[in-house]
Amino acid sequence: MSTVLEQITKKASELNKNIVLPEGEDSRVVKAAEEVTKEKLATVTLIGNPAKIKENNPDVNLEGIIIVDPETDERTIKYAEILFKAREGKINKKTNLPEYPTVEDAKQSILKDYTMYGALMLKAGDVDGLVSGACHSTANTLRPGLQVIKTAPGVQTISSSFIMVSPRENIYNPDGVAVFADCAINIEPDANQLADIAISSAETAKTIAGIEPRVAMLSFSTKGSGNDDKFFKSVPKMQEATKIAKEKAPELIVDGEFQFDAAVAPEVGKLKAPDSKVAGNANVFVFPNINAGNIGYKIAQRFGGYLALGPICQGFAKPINDLSRGCSVEDIKAVVAITALQAK
Ligand SMILES: CC(C)(COP(=O)(O)OP(=O)(O)OC[C@H]1O[C@@H](n2cnc3c(N)ncnc32)[C@H](O)[C@@H]1OP(=O)(O)O)[C@@H](O)C(=O)NCCC(=O)NCCS
Repeated sequence: MSTVLEQITKKASELNKNIVLPEGEDSRVVKAAEEVTKEKLATVTLIGNPAKIKENNPDVNLEGIIIVDPETDERTIKYAEILFKAREGKINKKTNLPEYPTVEDAKQSILKDYTMYGALMLKAGDVDGLVSGACHSTANTLRPGLQVIKTAPGVQTISSSFIMVSPRENIYNPDGVAVFADCAINIEPDANQLADIAISSAETAKTIAGIEPRVAMLSFSTKGSGNDDKFFKSVPKMQEATKIAKEKAPELIVDGEFQFDAAVAPEVGKLKAPDSKVAGNANVFVFPNINAGNIGYKIAQRFGGYLALGPICQGFAKPINDLSRGCSVEDIKAVVAITALQAK
């Protein structure tokens, strides 16, 4: 286990947060619930039918795990009312009809959609965080959160970041850890969204990675050295995003736009942006779009040997995280610990 992950796990076990795992039908999730409970990383609430969970996982010790069955739980009607109220007046894009015309419709829907059920438990304050996605797509995992949990005060954009852990000493990453964003959610963020991504990623750097953030807004240009005015206008977009982030979070150490080498190499930073506190010294990296971000983190992972922890969702009013469908029991445990750290 990397030192960063060890620190995350240790901090999580001191918090004893209640994390809901709505995918009680997935054996990896049930096994992870057992280990999280045994290792006292968090209290786990599983959603599903207790008899079925037991039958499908005969070797798992379910002692200490809270199991909630939407069919019999007396809070189901309360959650249906919360959903109905939260989505009143919203039109389903596919059918062009109201999403939940009545409370009964909302109830019937959450009896089938356990991710939404978990999101409603979170909204009601009955759990502290949600981890799902072992057998659901990113869109289906995040949509309930986007629809009912919404963004934290002052944040307009839900985004994601990866904590990148260095495999060895690296002069360009003396912290041994970096944060890359957004590599997984926002496809072509505008300047306002990029500013939100910068601020949320700095928060992730502090609370999860345990580093003091110095945020670089990345580009193929450094401080106006290049332009793409005839194409995507991404250089002025990153310049505008930097300005907005500085205005929205005056205490944040953020600067740009920077090429990656100007952001991390002191000699290049000094040459190209001598007055910047971030140039040559950055540890949080905001990419101009999902293409750059996703390709960038995979280069660091495959060529550089970095461990990529994430994607970690950021900006929700209450923490929700998405698993990859290929996740292992260990991956689920790590994401539960990260989610516990995000819970206020
Ligand atoms: C995140 C994502 C799943 C949302 O898609 P969606 O469910 O179709 O979203 P919609 O456009 O229907 O929006 C649903 C709600 O969420 C809100 N929303 C969507 N994206 C949001 C964001 N990034 N931040 C804040 N709110 C957001 C919308 O405003 C809408 O709110 P409303 O219904 O209350 O009016 C979509 O952006 C996506 O698919 N991103 C790429 C994910 C991916 O493939 N990643 C690759 C994995 S590596």
